[in-house]
Amino acid sequence: MTTTDIGLIGLAVMGQNLVLNMADHGYTVGVHNRTTSTMREFVDGPAADASVVGHETVEELVDALSTPRRVMLMVKAGAVVDRVIEEVAPLLDEGDVIIDGGNSRYTDTIRRTEELAEQGIRYVGAGVSGGEEGARHGPSIMPGGDPEAWPLLADLFQAIAADAPDGRPCCDWVGPDGAGHFVKMIHNGIEYGDMQVIAEAYDLMSAMGMANAEMAEVFRTWNDGVLDSFLVEITADILAHTDPDTGESTVDVILDAAGQKGTGTWTAIAALEAGQPLTLVAEAVFARVVSALVDRRRAAAGVLAGPDRTLEPDAVDLDDLRDALYASKITSYAQGFMLLADASAEHDWDLDLGRIASLWREGCIIRAVFLDDITAAYEADPELDNLLLADVFTRALADAQPGWRRVVRAGISAGIPLPAYSTALAYYDGIRSARTPANLVQAQRDYFGAHTYERVDGPRGEHHHTDWTGRGGAVTSGSYNA
Ligand code: 6PG
Repeated sequence: MTTTDIGLIGLAVMGQNLVLNMADHGYTVGVHNRTTSTMREFVDGPAADASVVGHETVEELVDALSTPRRVMLMVKAGAVVDRVIEEVAPLLDEGDVIIDGGNSRYTDTIRRTEELAEQGIRYVGAGVSGGEEGARHGPSIMPGGDPEAWPLLADLFQAIAADAPDGRPCCDWVGPDGAGHFVKMIHNGIEYGDMQVIAEAYDLMSAMGMANAEMAEVFRTWNDGVLDSFLVEITADILAHTDPDTGESTVDVILDAAGQKGTGTWTAIAALEAGQPLTLVAEAVFARVVSALVDRRRAAAGVLAGPDRTLEPDAVDLDDLRDALYASKITSYAQGFMLLADASAEHDWDLDLGRIASLWREGCIIRAVFLDDITAAYEADPELDNLLLADVFTRALADAQPGWRRVVRAGISAGIPLPAYSTALAYYDGIRSARTPANLVQAQRDYFGAHTYERVDGPRGEHHHTDWTGRGGAVTSGSYNA
């Protein structure tokens, strides 16, 4: 019987491509799939010339593995992962490793890492990004979990991962328990934001009457500068594509109802729970939700008054538009990294934020040249609390903000919603406000519920209450914070 280096369960497209990638790098991979015919077709088809061994049962797959055993799951996130773990774990010995390469929720990964540690099994939740192409030729991989598993995985994972332009692999140990899947979740949330800021530029250019081919050229030009990124590049390709059935521009025949599988929502929930303002990601999730309410939008379209979403051809300067996109993107990443820093402190993960930015430099969906600036900012100041205050970004925002405001103004006056640009600008103006109107909010809270307030002329932490009407008592409701 051939001894295998690693076993992989779950042969959907990501699983198949990871297996072929591992085989390309000299590893012998045992594979199993619940539907045996899928496994057979893969082993006899795309993997026919590769060092891949098909197994009809999980027992066979485990028996063939060299020790300590490594079993990677590429199955649907959620209950299926638990089911497969229940099948695999009893067959393993102490010190063996299970890796979940799906988009699992990080809280599940924390739980599974703990449960399996009790059985002596080393569990790893590894975010894998890059879609089919990345899985096949070099994804970005974000492993976290039992740190003792990392020495058993480092060579393999770093071999199959993409290499950044500086030659470093886009895979490194992220941190304990759920850290890998948390980082992948933030990657996906940021992905939602990146897609939304691009979509808003497309919307504004469409409103100015630009043809899709012209827009494709604009995105192509932008892809040469600070916006150089995979998502801008594919947007140019998409806008230049023609639908073979109708001869129309393909993007024009696609229904404007965005789908989602949940990782953006998880990011927004995590932000709300942590009290971190990931406003842009949250707006990007809600923009997808609004888009999906097709019937409701159509019913309201002819009824609710407002400008008709058209702009004069030169109403928005394309350099301003690029600036709005770039400034919003910087803001979104600053927000995402704030949540990473918060989670790192909360869970004691000791995340290396600069290294995380560099893991996203190649292979993943949000890969972009601009991530180098984030890495450099954290290398220059590992304690950096707010990315917007890194020189490179402070300057970029100062240059971009006049155009950014003009773009948001144009959208508002034409009735074109720009949720990402607007919320990013509101955050930018909020975070640079030494004073906000929250004093009034505090007064209201104290008025109706004796929730107390701190005073500008007193120390922080000292809470006061006013008897606003002369009818209240001296009892307060406490000064808790959410
Ligand atoms: C990746 C992607 C991937 C994600 C898709 C679709 O990093 O390769 O993030 O993990 O599943 O992008 O996500 P939505 O269906 O939620 O848009």
